[in-house]
Amino acid sequence: MTSDRRAALRIDGDRLMRRIEDLAAIGPIDGGGSCRLALTDDDRAGRDLVVTWMRDLGLDVSIDGIGNVVGVRAGRTDGPPTMTGSHIDTVRTGGRYDGNLGVLAGLEVIETLEINGIETEHPVAVGFFTDEEGARFPPDMLGSLVYVGGMAIEEALDIEGIDGAVVGAELDRIGYRGPSPCPGPSPRAFVELHVEQGPVLEAEGVTIGAVTGVQGISWTELTITGQSNHAGTTPMALRHDPAYVAAAVTAHVRELATRMGAMGEGRQVATVGRIELHPNLVNVVAASASMTVDLRNTDEALLQEAESDLARFVAEAAAAEGVTVAERTLARFEPVAFDNRVVDAVAAVAVDLGHSIRRMPSGAGHDAQMLARVCPTGMVFVPSRDGISHNPAEHTDPADLVAGADVLLQTILTLDQEPLDR
Ligand code: GLV
Ligand code: MN
Ligand code: MN
Repeated sequence: MTSDRRAALRIDGDRLMRRIEDLAAIGPIDGGGSCRLALTDDDRAGRDLVVTWMRDLGLDVSIDGIGNVVGVRAGRTDGPPTMTGSHIDTVRTGGRYDGNLGVLAGLEVIETLEINGIETEHPVAVGFFTDEEGARFPPDMLGSLVYVGGMAIEEALDIEGIDGAVVGAELDRIGYRGPSPCPGPSPRAFVELHVEQGPVLEAEGVTIGAVTGVQGISWTELTITGQSNHAGTTPMALRHDPAYVAAAVTAHVRELATRMGAMGEGRQVATVGRIELHPNLVNVVAASASMTVDLRNTDEALLQEAESDLARFVAEAAAAEGVTVAERTLARFEPVAFDNRVVDAVAAVAVDLGHSIRRMPSGAGHDAQMLARVCPTGMVFVPSRDGISHNPAEHTDPADLVAGADVLLQTILTLDQEPLDR
């Protein structure tokens, strides 16, 4: 096959869009998005559909002990595959593209190779990793973390979710605790297509992001315990109110992110995404509050500074109110830099295909940041309308989805030809 013929290959945009529609129809929610929290019945139905598509393509499908699913198309030679993929679990208010695009574009790449009778030098694999979102079972990127040996399978199987369910039991229940070993085999390279989930590409009128790395993530759960009492009779000075401390922490992390935003390269962000009060009644000073704080920065030193600032503030606020606080780390991942060879390949391919490009870090967490521990890795971003994600309104223009999938296809073909020895 001539290199001209490979360079002229394009994915089928209609087929990609049909698969996106079909997967989004599982666990549909108002506003056009999907809810397929990890290891729920809807996640199982989504998995079953994608596995059917993998088998229809003749892929060699394996499922490992944490439920990661990998489909491999053979190459001219054996050995580790050039791999792509992402996740198909969603947050409760998920859009239709987050994760799903990367998996379905991977299938599309393989179908394009298949239909055109293209033999690659190395095998090509597409995978979806369990519980990337971490919304039900922390940490995020759980499946890919286990895949690369960053957490022992035994530890992962024991993780308890926000609803009290346990990973191992849920995997058994939905039939996705597979026989393939964890950690899994390292690919020769990994490249993931994903929607940006932020405003940068759209604001700059750029079609393709060549992702240089992923910012560091720190998730902390605070359980604040005070004195439950009568809302009408308890003098303000005598209260030990967890709701007040939770609110003070919420306000503080916004202030800390704004203050640190002006410092150095790192762009600090901070989010309180969950607060639960108990007993959560109008006329009762709360007995306890459970809340989460999500801190992220591209600079590890600044992220550590934000964590110290938070810990200091929590201790002071708790002492002043006379409450106790138990802290638990739900996720902690340092910033990751992708491999320049993959980043350069993405950028060069996109330019060759006539697209505007921007090199940029990722604000969201991704399975690629885990795979980067074991092989040369990079990502392709496409724009998100109004920068909205983790929201059913998440949208990317079909032309951009197709552009991203074509960049993925050509990047995989480029990497197939490169030696990539570490
Ligand atoms: C995971 O996708 C995250 O960035 O929260
Ligand atoms: Mn995602
Ligand atoms: Mn997500």
